[in-house]
Amino acid sequence: MKKLIIANWKCHPTTQKQAKALAASIKKAASKGKAEVVVCPPFCYLSLIGSSSKVKLGAQNCFFQAKGAFTGEISPLMLKDFGCSYVLVGHSEREQTLCETYEMASKKIALSLACGLTPVLCVGETQAQKEKGEAFIEMEKEIRECLNLVKKADLEKIAFAYEPIYAIGTGKNCSADAALTAVLFIRRLVSEIAGKKAVADSIKVLYGGSVKASNAQEYLNNQWISGLLVGGASIDAKEFAGILKNIQ
Ligand code: PGA
Repeated sequence: MKKLIIANWKCHPTTQKQAKALAASIKKAASKGKAEVVVCPPFCYLSLIGSSSKVKLGAQNCFFQAKGAFTGEISPLMLKDFGCSYVLVGHSEREQTLCETYEMASKKIALSLACGLTPVLCVGETQAQKEKGEAFIEMEKEIRECLNLVKKADLEKIAFAYEPIYAIGTGKNCSADAALTAVLFIRRLVSEIAGKKAVADSIKVLYGGSVKASNAQEYLNNQWISGLLVGGASIDAKEFAGILKNIQ
């Protein structure tokens, strides 16, 4: 299966000119590589970038209603119409900075699926939870609650990203072995919730957290790690091209 590499630009860059230049470099690097590449820019750049056969478009967030009086929100229906294929859901930065709940994530996933998008559910523990030995207890609670409103038959249409919070934007990436343990845990748990063994093998589970060109391969070498969710290194054209370069 092709590796899936998702660029999460977060709230960068600050001009259209920079966004266009970055997108052009990513398209060039993606055209030489063998991965499926998705760019998730800020909403206002979606139309600038557009989707292509080499680079698909994703959004960093969506609302949990299709339309209505919801000032400032963008719905999955609009994203689908704009050419998006993917949408990130439950990113820890939204949970921590904007107080988003697992229930909201669950509604967003259910609606995104109904609109024909692939939601990418981000899950992972904090440093404190890890130190207390509660990483997997917390992750199980997070996953069960975030999938609560999703039909069992739809679970295999969701992609997952294991993103330990202590590794996001810190330069302290989680070891490939620890990432693998978490990825296998997610695979088993989702297949248990779906009540279907084959789901453990068929779902995509990515790793994210301080991925850069020099460590990407450690994760990609493992067949159970389906790809990467890249933040900081995805707004550095050279670094991101370095990640894509070695993918078979
Ligand atoms: P990072 O972010 O690569 O900058 O650590 C990853 C993410 O938050 O998706």
